[in-house]
Amino acid sequence: ESYDMGGHDTYMHKEISEQADAVDRVLRGRIDDRFSTVHLGGLNLDAREARGVRRIKILGCGTSYHAGLIGAGLIEELARIPADAEPASEFRYRNPVVDPDTLYVAVSQSGETYDVLAAVQELKRKGARVLGVVNVVGSAIAREADGGMYVHAGPEVCVVSTKCFTNTVVAFALLALHLGRIRDLSVADGKRIIDGLRKLPEQIGRILETEAEIKKLAEVYAGAQSMMFIGRVRGYPVALEASLKLKEISYIHAEAYPASELKHGPLALIEPALPTVAIVPDDDLLEKNRAALEEIKARSGRILAIAHREQERADHTIVVPKNENELDPILMGIPLQLFAYHTALAMGRDIDKPRNLAKSVTVE
Ligand code: AGP
Repeated sequence: ESYDMGGHDTYMHKEISEQADAVDRVLRGRIDDRFSTVHLGGLNLDAREARGVRRIKILGCGTSYHAGLIGAGLIEELARIPADAEPASEFRYRNPVVDPDTLYVAVSQSGETYDVLAAVQELKRKGARVLGVVNVVGSAIAREADGGMYVHAGPEVCVVSTKCFTNTVVAFALLALHLGRIRDLSVADGKRIIDGLRKLPEQIGRILETEAEIKKLAEVYAGAQSMMFIGRVRGYPVALEASLKLKEISYIHAEAYPASELKHGPLALIEPALPTVAIVPDDDLLEKNRAALEEIKARSGRILAIAHREQERADHTIVVPKNENELDPILMGIPLQLFAYHTALAMGRDIDKPRNLAKSVTVE
């Protein structure tokens, strides 16, 4: 991969289109079929140390923070280690309690984001062990961290992050699998996740082939003043990231909420002029998510569902291929990158250089 536009009109489109290859790269050379695990030599964390980790705290900003939220979910599900993610920009200003049994993970595409770097430096000063999940090789955060993994997304030029988000989430799936197999994840479950990971590039390819359909839907919704994005548990960070993408490049106001929180307030906003994008995976929460669609429909809200099969209550559904439940968020975010892209295109926005934003925020 290079800095050449390769026939695309924008870097964003090029980078979205590169995701099957990018995911293939983050997996390459890391899977160990014999033991149903993955090798992550750069972590500098042996099995005994990994077993001693009591908690994992992930720090990042913007899209990287959202990838960290999905990562925390994967770590809890696969490794059963309590994990959460927090914006590094908040963490560094609140005099956090630094616990020696907590493993800290700093996430950054550029590896140069000042808020993340400052958080890492503060943690190191307090004796914490910090891993980096970083795209740019040799960047400041990669150098400061005690170990970590590169996400191998290749160069990302567009100000908004797409392929690096996807690769970062896959990198977290690898980390979760690795930690899980050191702890209580069975050989069978390890194999199940590996099989799922191997399917991703082909499934991403299939999602990208539906671009013409997504473009039509984006043109339908492009007139909205504001949009709501909802998801539950695994789907909530997908909703957060999709709403950020739409805001950044189309300048349409967008809110992301856990679907479970609708009834606690935001339902008051629902009316025909406020469309909702709903993440509706075929998992243990399917019926709960369908109930949320009913609630929205009862208030005459328009719904675009991202799901594994057509959703009756939705006005439109983008159907994505099914993977293992834990890995579904990786695929469900991709059509929404194209949705944001085509919405912004229909509105004539400068997609690669949205107003007021820089690719990497290296100052306070
Ligand atoms: C992504 O679309 C954003 N422009 C932004 O939120 C970005 O993810 C954030 O500034 C963090 O950057 P980093 O990953 O390079 O640290």
